[in-house]
Amino acid sequence: MNRICIIGISGKLGQYMTQHALKQGYEVVGVCRPESVGKLDHFGDRITIFPGRTDDREVVQKAVDGCDGVLTVLAPWGVDNYASGTAQAVLDFAEPDARLIFSCGWHITKDGKDVFSFKLRFVEWLFKWLGPLLRLVDLNDQIEAARRIFASDRLWTVVRGSDLEEGPGDGLPVWAEHVGDPVLASNLTKRTDFALFMVHALTDDRLIHEAPAIIGRATASARTALALAVDG
Ligand SMILES: NC(=O)c1ccc[n+]([C@@H]2O[C@H](COP(=O)([O-])OP(=O)(O)OC[C@H]3O[C@@H](n4cnc5c(N)ncnc54)[C@H](OP(=O)(O)O)[C@@H]3O)[C@@H](O)[C@H]2O)c1
Repeated sequence: MNRICIIGISGKLGQYMTQHALKQGYEVVGVCRPESVGKLDHFGDRITIFPGRTDDREVVQKAVDGCDGVLTVLAPWGVDNYASGTAQAVLDFAEPDARLIFSCGWHITKDGKDVFSFKLRFVEWLFKWLGPLLRLVDLNDQIEAARRIFASDRLWTVVRGSDLEEGPGDGLPVWAEHVGDPVLASNLTKRTDFALFMVHALTDDRLIHEAPAIIGRATASARTALALAVDG
């Protein structure tokens, strides 16, 4: 794998993914809104930018051309099907054998077997109903984006992030198939480690057609699970 595209490259997750990908020797191209291009100045000529909304099909088609992998930030912003438009463009135009990695939160479920806490269900309910009213966030659209990805026979992975925090990385997060697994109880991941997992997924074939729910490996619940795995 040589050349990858990051859709939503100017956001916090996008910039961390860029750092990890460059460090690992990938050639990086990316798409971000024109008004955000300046946020990437510090990468200089080490990356190539295709300015445009991440659901602009023409821009996405140009950007993913010739890429072996595509890392896509599914952003639940606005009320105009932004995330589902972004996902559809990537599914339609990425190279046939490209690995497609998408980011989202724990609220997305692949098979309905996740067990959500009361707090998570309340926050999701709040965003689902208030978001569209305020015309800011549309979680239902991120759910629709995920539905389309899960139904696709492309080589996809949907990485589901826990609550996030800034700070130096602790290494590759631990993951579980379902929210509710005790390993995920601490519900916290460093954002840079979320990005590291996204880049890692490009080359981990065990993650094809999986929706791993991730957690920082230094958190209490992950350390307990890792210790039990060593003992057992
Ligand atoms: N935040 C959390 O606690 C959390 C938890 C779990 C999972 N996640 C997932 O992690 C990923 C990254 O989320 P993040 O919260 O960390 O944010 P982020 O990385 O900063 O990304 C936000 C993205 O949304 C874009 N954006 C911002 N405002 C927009 C608007 N009005 N219209 C269109 N695009 C807009 C940004 O582009 P510009 O650079 O152009 O502004 C950027 O690409 C998402 O997939 C999210 O579902 C987040």
